[in-house]
Amino acid sequence: MITFENVDVVYPNGFKGLSGVDLTISRGEFVAIVGLSGAGKSTLIRTINGLVPYTAGTLTVGGTLMDPKSKSKLRQLRSRVGMIFQSFNLVTRISVLNNVLTGRSAFTPTWRSLLGWYRAEDKEIAFQSLERVGIVDKAYNRASALSGGQQQRVAIARVLAQDPEVILADEPVASLDPPTAHQVMRDLRRIQQDLGITCIVNMHHLDLARSYADRIIGMRAGSVVFDGPTSEATDAVIEEVYQRSLTAEDVAAVDVAVSLDDLPTAPEQEAAEPTATQAADGQAQQPVAAPGGETEQGRT
Ligand SMILES: Nc1ncnc2c1ncn2[C@@H]1O[C@H](COP(=O)(O)OP(=O)(O)OP(=O)(O)O)[C@@H](O)[C@H]1O
Ligand SMILES: [Mg+2]
Repeated sequence: MITFENVDVVYPNGFKGLSGVDLTISRGEFVAIVGLSGAGKSTLIRTINGLVPYTAGTLTVGGTLMDPKSKSKLRQLRSRVGMIFQSFNLVTRISVLNNVLTGRSAFTPTWRSLLGWYRAEDKEIAFQSLERVGIVDKAYNRASALSGGQQQRVAIARVLAQDPEVILADEPVASLDPPTAHQVMRDLRRIQQDLGITCIVNMHHLDLARSYADRIIGMRAGSVVFDGPTSEATDAVIEEVYQRSLTAEDVAAVDVAVSLDDLPTAPEQEAAEPTATQAADGQAQQPVAAPGGETEQGRT
């Protein structure tokens, strides 16, 4: 369970990123956070793993009070809360398997991580994680050789290898073409359903939010202005959140002519080559400085 009580975030420059947020997210929920650019979606999810420290109120994660000033508590928390990013944040020059093994860092003595001498049981967990997202056959490929959708699956497998209670995803499919975006969202949904992992996902496209989330949180100017089951997040409600009419682009990540049922489900049906969108996304090639996707990267 994640509980925000009257949480504020004031950034060092004095800008109020979150204002009086009250929220309770139960174990195993799939929550989509929507809102216009600058609404505070990234700020909200980054407070949950301490990437952005909150400055007032109380935030508890899994019953533990989050203390952004305590490095040891943050480390413990981040081993339980995995994060995936729009730009995947893989180390592209090493293998898929080694990327996933960095998810085992919290369970591995530093000398083993540094030498890459992971235990057999950790390798087993890494392979199982890759199997869960359907790309175990890519284990020995360099991460850079994978398509964007496959790279995001590796990022999901890395988070799974952490054995997390919560997965935070900041625009995880924004760099992917619509069919691939749906496939990655399906993976997340399956993981939430099969493993009971809480998923909190920021997204722009309402069709994706409505197709996969149980609950939608609407944000505006750092505040939660809608919170309810997906069935209640009608166009009129979202227009109220956005304070403007919806555009076709707000609604559909996938061409309306393509039915969801027509989309491929098997991972092997995915294109092997990066799409033009991914190739243009220079961020996708950036290595991470720390394992587990815990680095503070540029805001998206
Ligand atoms: N480090 C920072 N210092 C000062 N202001 C910040 C910082 N990070 C974010 N902000 C501001 O806080 C507000 C919320 O930003 P945030 O990144 O959470 O929005 P968002 O909803 O994720 O937007 P987007 O959809 O564009 O990703 C914005 O006005 C942003 O400029
Ligand atoms: Mg954002």
